[in-house]
Amino acid sequence: MKAVCSQCHSEQKVDNFYTQFDALVVTYNEKFAKPAKKLYGMAKKDGLVHGSTFHTELGWHWWELWHHEGRRARHGASMQGPDYTHWHGMYDVAHNFYFKFIPELMHLAEKKGMSEKYKREVGAILARPEHQWYEKGFDQDVMKSIKAEEKSRYKQ
Ligand code: HEC
Repeated sequence: MKAVCSQCHSEQKVDNFYTQFDALVVTYNEKFAKPAKKLYGMAKKDGLVHGSTFHTELGWHWWELWHHEGRRARHGASMQGPDYTHWHGMYDVAHNFYFKFIPELMHLAEKKGMSEKYKREVGAILARPEHQWYEKGFDQDVMKSIKAEEKSRYKQ
């Protein structure tokens, strides 16, 4: 693909485009899609949900994570649309994941008497570095690393 782009653009521009695009997709996959997919699979296996994706609240949340706002985020990045990548994309993905998908999953687990198992699973996911801002809030350590990242990225 890069060979096609290079017909008109410099190598640097094409590399920058793919670095940015690929990084967005990796963030989406690793931070939200893979964990949610695993949890949804568990919920199906444990009988927390039945029927098709569209017969449960949890199914809809999962569907939207990957095919609604999740798809908008990835297509937005591929087409250089910042508003779709972020405000109609990753912003909604994060909101869904933390405030819809996980709470609904925990609610179903509790109804089935499986709270402990799901608390462990979800806890392990939220303990990862990429979710620290949510778990711990923006404490001093997090703010320090955000500032360091900004400094190195923007050379300010
Ligand atoms: C036939 C020539 C041509 C090819 C091939 C091409 N582009 Fe472009 N590209 C352009 C032109 C011309 C513009 C400017 C369009 C405009 O400003 O309206 C552009 C704009 C862009 C922009 C937006 C730049 C900006 O600063 O707004 C990006 C990013 C880009 N192309 C990436 C790519 C990538 C990635 C590929 C390969 C998948 C590619 N282009 C293939 C001609 C091409």
